[in-house]
Amino acid sequence: MEPACQRSLSPVDRENIRVDSIVPILNAGLAQVLLPKHAIQVVRNSILEREIAMKKNRSVFGGANNRRSFLKNGMVAAGAATMGAALLPGTSTAFGRRDDDDAPITKGDIAILTFLSALEQVEADLWIQYAELGGATNQGNSPIDLELNGQKITTGLAPAYITGLLVLDGDMPQYIADNTDDEISHHRFLNNYLASKGAKAIDLSHFATLPPSQVTGVPQKGRLTNLKQLTVDTTWWTRYRSATTNPDLGGTFENAVPDLAKGQHPAIPLSDGDLVLDGSGNISNHLQAIANTAGFHFAFIEQGGSSLYPALAQRVTNLEVLRILLSIGGSEIMHFQTWHDKAGNATNITDGDLTFPNLNAAVDPNNGASGPNVADMFQTNLIMPEPTVFLNPKLGPVSIIRPTSTQQGGAVASVVSFAEDGLFLDPVTKKNTGIVDVLMRLAEEADEARREI
Ligand SMILES: [Fe+2]
Ligand SMILES: [Fe+2]
Repeated sequence: MEPACQRSLSPVDRENIRVDSIVPILNAGLAQVLLPKHAIQVVRNSILEREIAMKKNRSVFGGANNRRSFLKNGMVAAGAATMGAALLPGTSTAFGRRDDDDAPITKGDIAILTFLSALEQVEADLWIQYAELGGATNQGNSPIDLELNGQKITTGLAPAYITGLLVLDGDMPQYIADNTDDEISHHRFLNNYLASKGAKAIDLSHFATLPPSQVTGVPQKGRLTNLKQLTVDTTWWTRYRSATTNPDLGGTFENAVPDLAKGQHPAIPLSDGDLVLDGSGNISNHLQAIANTAGFHFAFIEQGGSSLYPALAQRVTNLEVLRILLSIGGSEIMHFQTWHDKAGNATNITDGDLTFPNLNAAVDPNNGASGPNVADMFQTNLIMPEPTVFLNPKLGPVSIIRPTSTQQGGAVASVVSFAEDGLFLDPVTKKNTGIVDVLMRLAEEADEARREI
């Protein structure tokens, strides 16, 4: 059935109803009582038509001021609207929602989408490197069809590395290939959307100067990210297990793998030398440690996206842009949840200065403390977000993504965490490549965006 608000008006209706005289009554919520039904509908349609006419005069980026003046002149005063809401629940707010739904795409929205597209390109770059070495070549009947800009991506070039990854889960190669596919699609879609709105698509590939793995078969072209010397923050592990603290309320968290959070560790085999099997045909402890590092790094990357999208969604104005952020953000959360589960299967091994602790021993790997509270913080199968404090502790604990505040989880915070991870380190200069400056500038513009409703 055609929605009521889109029904057409008869010429008679148009002549008989003086819209301006009824708007205040309608918005006060009294119209349901005072006016016949068809008159209410006529007024609603007239307001809608007026808004559509106004929107035709707006550019994609403009309109916030016009919108405000329309709200000021054409709608009833807030006090009256509140009164209407009190009298007739659910009626007077309908126009407010209508107006929010039609908010234009703002410069802030474009800044947010541009930043996200840039960061998705970074994500795609690192996932492609993982897929080249550890992605599936054949897992099940579904063909592996990874490609970038029409070029097929060769996957699974390091079978011994895959052996190490399979310790974390038998489906790891498929999941790696699929996560890669998702990130490529995120960047491509966001760029296509930007272009469809007359904005500039973003391409940072001129910063692809970092050398990839030397393993045989890996395309020897420059990359945006360096997966050979990572410092992996694993505090997300305890952050999602705490029932009493939240980063948005000042909480701080311990690492699950303290050694990964200091020093520099490879998450991919550097060369064929890393792939050599021992006399019994087993992979080395070192290669298992590389696979374990990758397992924790996967979750680190994806928990970042899980917080970034909801944080930036709070700065978006246009409803369709909000839908994009919620929809892509949800896919980041699905990635994180998967990797969170798999990281817990990393074997308790030591390779040089890197130990993967037994997280099920009820012993804090940071300080040796023990007991049930410690077990709660580290036990590997506690992968659902533990209910914790949110907004105000008086409201009681709730299971949530965290952080989501714009202070803790914004665009700049994401770039900083990626840089601290070592993703952009040039091994020759030992400094970050120029991509960090560009990402920071885009991030600042995204963080400056504000909801303009
Ligand atoms: Fe993504
Ligand atoms: Fe992601």
